[in-house]
Amino acid sequence: MNNLRELLKHELGDLLFAEKTILKATKKMAREVSDPAMRERLEAHHGETEGQIQNLERAFEAIGERARAQKCPGILGIVKEHDEFKSDEEPSKPMLEAFDLGSGLRVEHYEIAAYRSATAVAKALGEREVVELLQENLAQEIAMAKFIEAASAATLRMVHAAAQAEENEEGGARRGASKRGASKGGASKGGASKRGGSKGGAKRAASKRTARAG
Ligand SMILES: [Fe+2]
Ligand SMILES: [Fe+2]
Repeated sequence: MNNLRELLKHELGDLLFAEKTILKATKKMAREVSDPAMRERLEAHHGETEGQIQNLERAFEAIGERARAQKCPGILGIVKEHDEFKSDEEPSKPMLEAFDLGSGLRVEHYEIAAYRSATAVAKALGEREVVELLQENLAQEIAMAKFIEAASAATLRMVHAAAQAEENEEGGARRGASKRGASKGGASKGGASKRGGSKGGAKRAASKRTARAG
C-alpha cells in the first residue's frame, strides 16, 4: 500500500469487522446485565450498531469500493479478555456485571479511536460524505461511553453491597455454627473468621471445579 485512499479503505474494513463483532458481543452482554436501564441501553446500542454497519457500507460506496471487512485483532482481543475473565475467574453474576462495565468502556473507546482516525484520513482526502457517515457513528459511540461511565458508580455500589451482604450472611452462619461447637473464645471472631471465610470460598470453588471435572 502506498496511498491514503487504500488506507481509508483498510480503516473502513477494520471498522466493519469491529462493528460486526460487537453486534454479536452486545447481544451476549445484554444477557449478563441485571440493571434494566443498562440492558435497555445495550439493546438500543445493538440497534445503533446495525445502523453503523449500514453507514460503513455507504462509506465504501461513496469511495467507489465494495464493502469488505478486514480482520481486526484489536476488537477480538477485547472480546477475548472478557471471555477469559469469565472462564479463569469464575465471577459471581454481580462481579461479572461489574467487570462488564470495563469491557464495554474498552469497546467504546476502541471504536472512538478508530472512528476518529478514519475520519482524519477521510478529511485529508476531502471525502466529505465519508466524514459525515463516520461522524454519525462516532457520536453514538461517544454517547454510549458516557452512559457506561455515568452508570458505573451506581452499578458498582450495588454490586459491592450485594457482595458484602453475602459475606455477612456467610459469616453469621459460621459464627452460629462455632457457637454450637466448642468455642476457644474471642480470637476466632475477627480476622480469623474472615480468613476462614475466604478459605471456605476457595474450598467451595475447588469442589465446584472438581464436580465439573468429574
Ligand atoms: Fe459501534
Ligand atoms: Fe459502540
